[in-house]
Amino acid sequence: MFLEQIKLINFRSFETLTIDSFSQINCLVGENGSGKTNFLEGLYLLSSNRGFRTGDRKELTNRKADGFFIQGVFDGEVIERTVSEKKKKLTLSEQSIASNHLRTHNPVVAFSPNDIFLATGTSETRRRFFDAAIALRDDEYSDYLAKYERALRQRNASLKKDPKNADIWNDALITNGAKIIKKRLDFVKLLIPKVEALYQEFTKGSATLKYFNNFKLTQNIEDALKEALAQSKSEDLRRKHTSKGPHRDDITLLINDLPAAKSGSQGQNRTLSFALKIGSVEIIEETLGRKPILLIDDALLEVDPKRRQYIFDKFYSSGLQLFFTGTTKEFFDFIQPSEAINFINFDD
Ligand SMILES: Nc1ncnc2c1ncn2[C@@H]1O[C@H](COP(=O)(O)OP(=O)(O)OP(=O)(O)O)[C@@H](O)[C@H]1O
Ligand SMILES: [Mg+2]
Repeated sequence: MFLEQIKLINFRSFETLTIDSFSQINCLVGENGSGKTNFLEGLYLLSSNRGFRTGDRKELTNRKADGFFIQGVFDGEVIERTVSEKKKKLTLSEQSIASNHLRTHNPVVAFSPNDIFLATGTSETRRRFFDAAIALRDDEYSDYLAKYERALRQRNASLKKDPKNADIWNDALITNGAKIIKKRLDFVKLLIPKVEALYQEFTKGSATLKYFNNFKLTQNIEDALKEALAQSKSEDLRRKHTSKGPHRDDITLLINDLPAAKSGSQGQNRTLSFALKIGSVEIIEETLGRKPILLIDDALLEVDPKRRQYIFDKFYSSGLQLFFTGTTKEFFDFIQPSEAINFINFDD
């Protein structure tokens, strides 16, 4: 996808911002607090129904206004989002569109310095990354996830207050849970060779990932989950929560066969988290036949110049439209030829 024009009204620090020309490489330059991340967040909202920092309407709306409007033209198609207390509207070419369809129609992936937590953080951080990446290639996924999470909350509440009815929710857990696991396994299978190759290309070292199920999988995932729920029932009653299912799946990243969280250096973990995200971008592109737009918010700050160059070349040669942030023009000296850059100045 290629952003041609954008208009933000009463969004974050902007009362009105219109930009009507972009290139493949776009560098947002401005001092701290000048609105670079705000701009990326607005652009991101033309793909996702929540910003990458928050989904809170009040935080996203300019403090002087009571709602915001964002319009983008991507490959000649107009996407508009209107959000206020009373009104929520999302359109593609003037027709209403559901958020989950917009995500796969106009995939946008944001990179940030927090991505290092993919390597160093909890398995919940990694599950959330998986869920977001899969939702970008599969517009049914978020629906299964929402239904599963609802059933899980209800079952856990029953285990606390009304244990004899806890199993009422099992059918919803099993149907949706099995779909989630299947889609995660499919994604991991595609991701592993990509992460291994990318990490090796970036560092000459070796890294991989492993996906752990917390119950025994068999050919029929629904049957296996059903069995796991039945077997863990007495433990669940004692602990008052559901112990088996995809909400407890674990993804471990390994560098030279050791868990990255424990033994990876800061730079290795950062590079591995890049490999994970770039690998997922490749899968999204291969699945959808559309090129995601990449928002790289300060994410290259902490990698050394050689790797920065490598990562940039990787993005650039894949033909994706890129948005980088930096506080000075000189920060972008690693981009050659610099004539190809569209600088957008946020200081004035
Ligand atoms: N809803 C809002 N209404 C008005 N101003 C807002 C709103 N939300 C954030 N801001 C302002 O936007 C500014 C932050 O902008 P942003 O995070 O985009 O900066 P940045 O250019 O990315 O800075 P950095 O280089 O530090 O990352 C802050 O001054 C903040 O007060
Ligand atoms: Mg910022």
